[in-house]
Amino acid sequence: MPRIQLLAPSVTTKIAAGEVIERPSSVVKELLENAVDAGASRIDVEVEQGGTELIRVVDNGCGIEPEDLPLAFASHATSKLRDADDLFQIGTLGFRGEALASIGGVSQTVLQSRVPGRDAGLEIRCDGGTLSETKPWGGAAGTRLEIRHLFFNTPVRRKFLRSPPTEMGHVTESFTRLALAHLSLHWTLTHNGRTVYELPATTGLLDRVAMFFGNEVSAKLFEVRVEQGPAVLRGYFADPQLDRGNARMQYVFINRRWIRDRNIGHAIQEAYRGLLMTGRYAVVFLFLELPPDQVDVNVHPTKAEVRFREPNAIHHLVHAGLRERLRRENLTARLIPTSTLGPPRATDFTSGAANAGLPPWTLAAPQGPSHLPFSPPSATPLPPMAPSAPGLAPEPPRTPPLPIASSCHRAFQLYDTYLVAETDEGMLVIDQHALHERILFEQLKRRWREGKIERQPLLIPEPVDLTPEQAGRALEHRDAFGELGIEIEAFGGDTILIRTAPAVLSRATPAAVFRAVVDHLLAKDRPPQHDVLFNDLLSLVACHSAIRAGDRLPPEEIAALLEQRRLADDAHHCPHGRPTALLFSRADLERQFGRI
Ligand SMILES: Nc1ncnc2c1ncn2[C@@H]1O[C@H](COP(=O)(O)OP(=O)(O)OP(=O)(O)O)[C@@H](O)[C@H]1O
Ligand SMILES: [Mg+2]
Repeated sequence: MPRIQLLAPSVTTKIAAGEVIERPSSVVKELLENAVDAGASRIDVEVEQGGTELIRVVDNGCGIEPEDLPLAFASHATSKLRDADDLFQIGTLGFRGEALASIGGVSQTVLQSRVPGRDAGLEIRCDGGTLSETKPWGGAAGTRLEIRHLFFNTPVRRKFLRSPPTEMGHVTESFTRLALAHLSLHWTLTHNGRTVYELPATTGLLDRVAMFFGNEVSAKLFEVRVEQGPAVLRGYFADPQLDRGNARMQYVFINRRWIRDRNIGHAIQEAYRGLLMTGRYAVVFLFLELPPDQVDVNVHPTKAEVRFREPNAIHHLVHAGLRERLRRENLTARLIPTSTLGPPRATDFTSGAANAGLPPWTLAAPQGPSHLPFSPPSATPLPPMAPSAPGLAPEPPRTPPLPIASSCHRAFQLYDTYLVAETDEGMLVIDQHALHERILFEQLKRRWREGKIERQPLLIPEPVDLTPEQAGRALEHRDAFGELGIEIEAFGGDTILIRTAPAVLSRATPAAVFRAVVDHLLAKDRPPQHDVLFNDLLSLVACHSAIRAGDRLPPEEIAALLEQRRLADDAHHCPHGRPTALLFSRADLERQFGRI
C-alpha cells in the first residue's frame, strides 16, 4: 500500500479547479460575479473561440489594492468574509476566495487593477498557478482579467471541451443569468470581435428580457409581486402558450443569485398544473428576496444550489403567487389567422387542420385587454368562484365579467364531439369531453376539499378480480378510495368488493374507475403527496364520468353543459392541460371574409 502524503499545492489547485471551473462559461461566471461584487457600473466581456482561447472581462469597479494583488490568486483568500459567522450573512456573490486560485491554476491569466483615485495600478500574471512579479499598470480605474488557453496544463480536461459554438452557448447563458439579475449595470458581450449583446443600464426587467429573448417572450409575461413574512417574490412568468420542452427558461434567483432548485421548480409546475401538457415547462423570471440567514449558499461548489431554512414556505410563496395570478387570466386558446394571404380553405375548418395548428390558422396567444401585460395587481380583482353546485354557499358574481362568463347565444353539435357556440366575442368551438371533464373535476375537487364527495351505495356490491399486487395496493389505499366515494373491502383471494361509488359516476361502471385508480397507484414508485395524488385521482374519476367524444347530445344537454361552463374556475383547459375550447373571434372572421 503506498504511503499517505500531502498533495503539493500545484495538484490541490487543479483538484479545486475541477469543482469550480468546468468549462469557459464557469470562468465567465466567476469573473462576472467578482465584477458585480466590486460595485462596477459597466462590465465588458470579450471571448474568443467560445472562451477556449481567450476570455477578457473588464470592469470599472473598486479595483484591488496593490499590496493585495498577489493574494487574489491565493486559495481561501477573500475580502468578502472574515469569520465563520459571516457565512450566514452573505451579501456578496463570492465568499470563498477560491475562484481566481482555481482559474489561475489551469490557465494563463493576467490580472490588472487600479483603485479609483490612485495614480497607478498594478499587473500580475499567473501561469498555471505560478505567480509573476508585479509591475506597474497604467490602465483605467477598475479591474481587467485576461484568461488565455484554459486547461493548457490539464490536457484531459481540455479534451472534454466541446466545439467553440457550444462553449459559447454556455458562456452566453452565464452572461444572461448575471445580466438579468443586475439591471443597473451596462453589459457587453463580444465573440470573435462581433458584438453579441450591448445592454445599457435599465430599470426594467422587461427591457432586459426583451433584449435576450425578444418581444415574443416579453409581451407574454404576467407580473408577480407577493410577500410572505420576510420573503418577497417579484418577477414575471409567461402565458402557458409560451411553454418549452425543458426547464432551461425558468430563471430563478435568490437575492440576485441564479440558482437551480427542485423545490421551486416543483412549485412552478404545480402553479401551472392543468395549463401545460405533460413534459412541457413554463417560462419564468423569478426573484426571491430573503434575509441572508434564511438561506445557506455554502452547499454547492459553484453556489448554484442553496438550502432554505423553510423550504415549504418558499414552495408555498411561489406556488400561491403564480397560481393566483394565472387564475385571473383568460387563457382560452384562440385561433387567429397567421397571414393575410386570404381566407382559409374550407377544408381547414372541416378537416381539423385548424386544431392541428396548420396554416393558415395557428394557435396563438389570446389578445385583448385581459392579456395586456402587467395591469397592476390591484386593477383586476381575482374573480371569485361562482356557485358551483347545489348545496354550496353562493359566492358573489365575477367582477368584471371575464369573456369566459359571457353566455353562449346559440349552439349546435358537430361530429358528436364538438359544440359550436355563438358568443359575443366570436365563435367558440368546444371539445365536449374536455369541457365536461374540467367541470366535473372542479366540482369533485371542491367537494373533496370539504370532505363531502357524494357516494351512492350500489344495489348489488360489485366484485372485482385483481392481481395480488393490485389487490394489495388497493387495500393499502382503502382510505383514499373512501375519500373518493369508493368504499371497498376484501372479498377473499384477490377479489375486492366495491360497495359504493361516487355519485357523479353515472356513465362509467364503478369497476372501470376503480381499476384505473389502482393502476395509477401502482404506477407510482413512491406515494406522492396527498393532494398531488388526489389531483390525479379526481381527474381520473372526472375523465371516466364525463360525456365522451361520440356521445350525441340533445339540445337540453348542450345548453346545460354550456351553462355549467360559466361556473368552472378554469373552463379553458381540461385537467390534463389540453384546451377545452378554441375561439375564432368575430373580428378575425370578419377580417378573413374581407368585411373589415
Ligand atoms: N473584479 C474585481 N474587482 C475587485 N476585486 C476583485 C475582483 N476580482 C477579484 N477581486 C478580489 O480578489 C478576491 C479573490 O477573488 P475570488 O473570486 O477568487 O474570491 P471571492 O470572490 O472572494 O470568492 P469566490 O471564490 O466565492 O468567488 C476577492 O475577494 C476580491 O477581493
Ligand atoms: Mg469570486
